[in-house]
Amino acid sequence: MKALVLAGGRGTRLRPLTNTSAKQLFPVANKPVLFYGLEAIRDAGITDVGMIVGDTAAEIRRVVGDGAQFGLRITYIPQEAPLGLAHCVLIARDYLGDDDFVMYLGDNFLIGGIHDMVQAFGEGDYSAQILLTPVDDPRSYGVAQLNRSGQIVGLAEKPDEPASDLAIVGVYLFTRAVHDAVRAITPSPRGELEITDALQWLIDTGHHVHSHVITGYWKDTGRVQDMLECNRMVLESIETRLAGTVDGRTEITGRVVLEAGAVLEDCVIRGPVVIGADSKITGSYLGPFTSIGAGCTLEDAEIEYSIVMNSSAIRGVARIEASLIGKGVEVMPARRAPNTHQLVIGDHSTVRLRG
Ligand code: TTP
Repeated sequence: MKALVLAGGRGTRLRPLTNTSAKQLFPVANKPVLFYGLEAIRDAGITDVGMIVGDTAAEIRRVVGDGAQFGLRITYIPQEAPLGLAHCVLIARDYLGDDDFVMYLGDNFLIGGIHDMVQAFGEGDYSAQILLTPVDDPRSYGVAQLNRSGQIVGLAEKPDEPASDLAIVGVYLFTRAVHDAVRAITPSPRGELEITDALQWLIDTGHHVHSHVITGYWKDTGRVQDMLECNRMVLESIETRLAGTVDGRTEITGRVVLEAGAVLEDCVIRGPVVIGADSKITGSYLGPFTSIGAGCTLEDAEIEYSIVMNSSAIRGVARIEASLIGKGVEVMPARRAPNTHQLVIGDHSTVRLRG
């Protein structure tokens, strides 16, 4: 059994952050989301991983390397353009050979790992296996329709009128039968080779595609609100660890991780909160479900339910909430007069100002 991890793509829904960085490396509780997936693959007993990379290949290679840090052997497979999930399978044909494999979307997050489903697939007699989970708005997902006995009767990619509320989770199991499927299908109206079309082809040609409905936690972190929710979920289970310095005027409630070299002075911290190495936080309030990266500076700031990436500074700004702030960003008040906002913002940014 091998793994195929998809770490290319466009990332349009997370612009402008994805203009300069790979979304699979965005931090959840200060750890790249991709790392959780690689650890789940390793914990399922898989060692050989093919990693699809696109425009952000250099950054992914620099951070993930040959996989030894995870106990994995990673082979990089460049994709010339984001031509679809099934296109990733197409170009990985030589790497995958005739082996069964798990396909894992590099920006997906699944609590509870994949060990059991990988094992069940090994014991079953299916050509493919997908996981489904009920979602509130299925229109932004691949959607499956099941018959009364739980068999898949139809699949559609981001349908305008979904036939059910069952979204396809970004972890798929395949036998080599999928290689015929991805060669047989043609690009969809949006120009991509869709994995839903490949699965539908398998069903139509008499293969058994097994589905399993899960109710555990799964998130596709492709949008800002999903990143924040995923961060919240992981912070729910952190344990307090204070390796940095906390002065006598700082008040901490709840669970907080403070990495080495980080300093808290005259702050109010309401956990769960994680603060990266060498960050300096002074006279500030950090509210629940906030992750501050490494090397950040916060002075006289208030922030909660947010992610701040490495080396950013927030000074004299109250109050920031539900925000995703990139690397090396500066947020500070404008001059008192004239009473205006002063903005230097990259393409495709979103800014919501009060008043
Ligand atoms: P998506 O999030 O569905 O697509 P995207 O990355 O292009 O994002 P957006 O819709 O916001 O523009 O992709 C799921 C995962 O698969 C993600 O980790 C990127 C990866 N991927 C590839 O590696 N190659 C591809 O051709 C596509 C479509 C996605």
